[in-house]
Amino acid sequence: MSILEIKDLHVRVEDDDQREILKGVNLTINTGEIHAIMGPNGTGKSTLSAAIMGNPHYIVTQGEILLDGQDVLAMEVDERARAGLFLGMQYPSEIPGITNADFMRAAINAKRDEDHKMGVMEFLKKLDSKMELLNMPEAMAERYLNEGFSGGEKKRNEILQLLMLEPTFAILDEIDSGLDIDALKVVSKGVNAMRGANFGAMIITHYQRLLNYITPDVVHIMMEGRVVKTGGPELAKRLEAEGYVKIAEEIGIAYHEEA
Ligand SMILES: Nc1ncnc2c1ncn2[C@@H]1O[C@H](COP(=O)(O)OP(=O)(O)OP(=O)(O)O)[C@@H](O)[C@H]1O
Ligand SMILES: [Mg+2]
Repeated sequence: MSILEIKDLHVRVEDDDQREILKGVNLTINTGEIHAIMGPNGTGKSTLSAAIMGNPHYIVTQGEILLDGQDVLAMEVDERARAGLFLGMQYPSEIPGITNADFMRAAINAKRDEDHKMGVMEFLKKLDSKMELLNMPEAMAERYLNEGFSGGEKKRNEILQLLMLEPTFAILDEIDSGLDIDALKVVSKGVNAMRGANFGAMIITHYQRLLNYITPDVVHIMMEGRVVKTGGPELAKRLEAEGYVKIAEEIGIAYHEEA
């Protein structure tokens, strides 16, 4: 079993040393568990994922991130990926000049030592089966990474990377945004295929709808840079019905619904 612990995490952005975005996030995820993170716009959900993955624009000023007790903050970005962390981004970037397939094979082999690299045949076989699971046309593998991909294709491709790389922990930031109903089902099927004793995920979403397909074990609500409430799937249902105002009142946070 693996464990990802986030302890009292404080983060600010590079160019603004006055403003703290994360103000003490505490969160623990074990493999075998899927956690959902919900929260109003601008509360720091994507900042949390950026800090976990080591985006250099985000400065950790206090707190710890531990993967099986190892200090993640001391690791370079590529070391974090090799250690088993994966980020599916809210806005994945386009990388012209590198095909999707080459990118994934390089990423898989970066995690392996010289004697155990994945060969082309094994890679293509795996790629075929995962693309079939996600109903993706074969041609997507040979296109430049994310270049000209539609919003939904990018999200589906993030899940393809997830299935190919088989990380220990995945942080999936709004993988449901902009997806049509069929794509939502396909993406959920991909995440559910990863479920198991050796995999844990943190799924950032605004909508209960996704959680109908991927049932979370734990739901966290983030507001104003902190996890303010933790519960089971019923918490997401409550949010859907009531919005954030009532929960904010309960916890004693000043929060105003936008007009
Ligand atoms: N690189 C940056 N430069 C300046 N401000 C930033 C930067 N990144 C995040 N912020 C600010 O930090 C706050 C939190 O942003 P973040 O993207 O983490 O929110 P979020 O919870 O993911 O919101 P959403 O639900 O809209 O995706 C916002 O006010 C945002 O403007
Ligand atoms: Mg975000």
